[in-house]
Amino acid sequence: MKKCLIILALALISMAAREKTLIVYYSYTNNVHNIITALSEQIDGDIVRIEPAEKGLDYAANNYAIGSQQISAIRSNPNDAASYPPIDPVNVNLADYDCIIIGAPLWWSNMAAPLQTFLFQNGAAMAGKKIGLIVSSASSGISGVEGDAKRLIPGGDFLTPSLWIRSSQTSNAPSLISDWLKAIKYGELSGIQSILTDQNLANYTIFTIGGKLIGRNLLTLQNLKRGLYIVNGQKIYLNN
Ligand SMILES: Cc1cc2nc3c(=O)[nH]c(=O)nc-3n(C[C@H](O)[C@H](O)[C@H](O)COP(=O)(O)O)c2cc1C
Repeated sequence: MKKCLIILALALISMAAREKTLIVYYSYTNNVHNIITALSEQIDGDIVRIEPAEKGLDYAANNYAIGSQQISAIRSNPNDAASYPPIDPVNVNLADYDCIIIGAPLWWSNMAAPLQTFLFQNGAAMAGKKIGLIVSSASSGISGVEGDAKRLIPGGDFLTPSLWIRSSQTSNAPSLISDWLKAIKYGELSGIQSILTDQNLANYTIFTIGGKLIGRNLLTLQNLKRGLYIVNGQKIYLNN
């Protein structure tokens, strides 16, 4: 009976379309970079790191004065492209993605300015897509960062909740991310369904991400620990 239910559930999930994820982030002191590295070990997605065009700026100097000026300029005139600091060109075709996960440092209660530039330029092209938000800050929580994301991606289909990771908790990112992926039901968006196009449910080959054969049947699949695997030739995240 249990097996029948599992098979039914898997067959239903298999009807969902396959989704592709883009991870886009900015990081000045690498907390968000480390968070995104942990995320990339749990999900399969293309990664884009935003870089300010002006190099060598010390955003932390003089009580974070540069970041403060950039955030003030955006707050004063959020609809003016000139309010946003220039960034390096980004080569990404947003039409290729169904889900976009944004990794954002918080600056003065708002999203770090260079990431706001990217979203100001590209937010309209993200309409209708699933949007996940991860925020890193020292103590302010998510504060206005979610509001910024919603302003800059007005047509986004936001996944709830957003994830806040306190900067002192960055080393715990793997487990915080794992819990968050469950909370937003990421596995249903982009995981197991991709391998279930074959209706013969006994017919699996399951490898570790390093290429070691684990097994060839559904029960093996069901009993695996959460993580990335190669199943029937496809890299998938099992959110067991
Ligand atoms: C310009 C600037 C302003 C910041 N403002 C705040 C703030 O208001 N509240 C807070 O908790 N952290 C603030 N921080 C700290 C960052 O949010 C925190 O260190 C975060 O982890 C940085 O991520 P990153 O290492 O990926 O750049 C600020 C950092 C900078 C550079």
